[in-house]
Amino acid sequence: MCGIVAFCGVKNAITPLLTGLARLEYRGYDSAGLAVIDPQAKQLRTIQRVRQEGRGMVEVLREAAAEAGLGDDSQGITCGIGHTRWATHGAPSVANAHPHCDCQGRIAVAHNGIIENHGRLREQLTAEGHTFHSQTDSEVVSHLVEKHYALQNGDLAAAVRAAVAELSGSFALAILHRDYPEALVVTRNDSPLVIGSCATGAIAASDVPALIEYTRDVCYLDDRDIAILHANGSVEYFDPAGEPYTPNTYHIDWNIKEAEKGGYPDFMLKEINEQPRVVRDVLKGRLNTQAKTLELPELAMTPDELAAIDRVYIVACGTSYHAGLIGKDLIESWARIPVEVRVASEFRYANPIISSNTLVIAITQSGETADTLEAVRLARRAGAHVVAITNVIGSRITTEAQTTIYIKANIEISVAATKTFLAQLCLLALLALFLSQERGLVNETQIVTAFEALQRLPQQIEAVLADTTSIDAAAEVCADATTVLFIGRGVGATTCYEGALKLKEISYIHAEAIAAGEIKHGTLALIDPIVATPVVAVAVASATHDKMLANIEEVKARGARVIALATEGDERVGELADIVIYLPPTYEQLSPVLASVALQLLAHRAAVLLGRDIDKPRNLAKSVTVE
Ligand code: G6P
Repeated sequence: MCGIVAFCGVKNAITPLLTGLARLEYRGYDSAGLAVIDPQAKQLRTIQRVRQEGRGMVEVLREAAAEAGLGDDSQGITCGIGHTRWATHGAPSVANAHPHCDCQGRIAVAHNGIIENHGRLREQLTAEGHTFHSQTDSEVVSHLVEKHYALQNGDLAAAVRAAVAELSGSFALAILHRDYPEALVVTRNDSPLVIGSCATGAIAASDVPALIEYTRDVCYLDDRDIAILHANGSVEYFDPAGEPYTPNTYHIDWNIKEAEKGGYPDFMLKEINEQPRVVRDVLKGRLNTQAKTLELPELAMTPDELAAIDRVYIVACGTSYHAGLIGKDLIESWARIPVEVRVASEFRYANPIISSNTLVIAITQSGETADTLEAVRLARRAGAHVVAITNVIGSRITTEAQTTIYIKANIEISVAATKTFLAQLCLLALLALFLSQERGLVNETQIVTAFEALQRLPQQIEAVLADTTSIDAAAEVCADATTVLFIGRGVGATTCYEGALKLKEISYIHAEAIAAGEIKHGTLALIDPIVATPVVAVAVASATHDKMLANIEEVKARGARVIALATEGDERVGELADIVIYLPPTYEQLSPVLASVALQLLAHRAAVLLGRDIDKPRNLAKSVTVE
């Protein structure tokens, strides 16, 4: 989704703006722009804007800015806003690129989100004499602020507050006024915005990587609050009624290296390779070795509340939803509580059966996915206990759910989620085991044994990462195909959903995942012996292993080329499949962790072979802050 950076300080603003935009590129975008006040041009005192259409545009923007006299060394320019746009209303074009100005070119606005009542506001403002220059929903904000600025006698914060009161939808906004060369106003509703101060000024952005070079101590705004960033680095915070307040400060403990590729060709491969460390961090401190009990204090539920849970809903989107599907199997197998997993965009419009004994687990790596947030609000209104599983400290979901458990994967830049997914899986395994312990279903020995299996995973992941010969061969087969089918049973099937999604999103090869037992009810017709359609079969050791072998025979008999994931030493699969990717042995319920790493590498390699833009797949965004 769109990215915003705003800087107001005593030194050159161009560098923090362009560096910040570059660090937000991972969010996905199709145009970029910036607007600054040039105090040298006192007579004109107009806002200078540079906007470019296309991807890779932050670099082009840097050149265009330099040509327009706004180079990295523009010491006189100390206040500005920047934006990367992911088109929703209006095609990607220079005219639709942000920042958007008011009629007189005195105000510039960068917006992330969707102004839902933009149609009515546009009509009204047009009738009042405003002229629009873009097809975006966002442009109404600059005209609305212009209108209220006049009504509020030139008080920018009051004008923004009045404008915000008229907006519905989601927004993070950074607003610049030529008459305020030493201040900027930012606000938000349902869209992320993080604010920090440093020696040279104050900075706000859609996400932490844009400001981590300047500060590690950040604040977040509540909905419809307003902050004024001052050139001396101070920031004033106001609630919607205009009352000042002091927000909580959060310390970010990862550093800029985490937001850099560190020698890898792309972030996705770096993040795949970070997974052993991530899993170790998820498990750290969770087993009380003296008492032989698992500890999950963040769940913050009393033994009575835990015992009373009679239903679990897991709500999530995308890859987090797939983690939820695997989590269902873990919780049902280990804690024996019925679990329903729902896509958040469906759950929020359904009529779910919720009581005070319902536990709702909302999984979202970003903590900002609009549909997941809305599902959480619905669940809370209905009286459920809601626990959020997220990666982003202070993100929106953490204020909406009763409790939050962090997966501590550190920043994930690549649009395709990998390490956050694995961390989610391991956390769900811990949660399942914890629920089982609290409900008296496992004894100390069983807890320790299961925990030891979890502790072996990092080393086992390292083994999968170390030898990719079969994965590379499988990727060559997939890269040549127009369709790849993924089949599995039980958690093998749910692993396939994520494997197919990874392949689709970064290689653009059509992929479909299906429970292996279902393939003969339709999907088998897709197997074409002429092209030897590739079928990825997750056939690791499991209770249904024999059935999987039969399914592999079935697809082979129809001319498929089989790429099988099997447990080390499984010769039967070796005899049947064309390519076998062997994985270390683990519990069946934990096998998705290892199989997913292999499938991530498969998707990555196929996408590399096809020359795709690995970290920024077309049309996709890292965090989906609109419905
Ligand atoms: C986007 C991302 C996916 C992610 C999904 C849900 O589509 O590209 O990688 O799985 O959003 O995001 P969340 O932050 O809620 O996990």
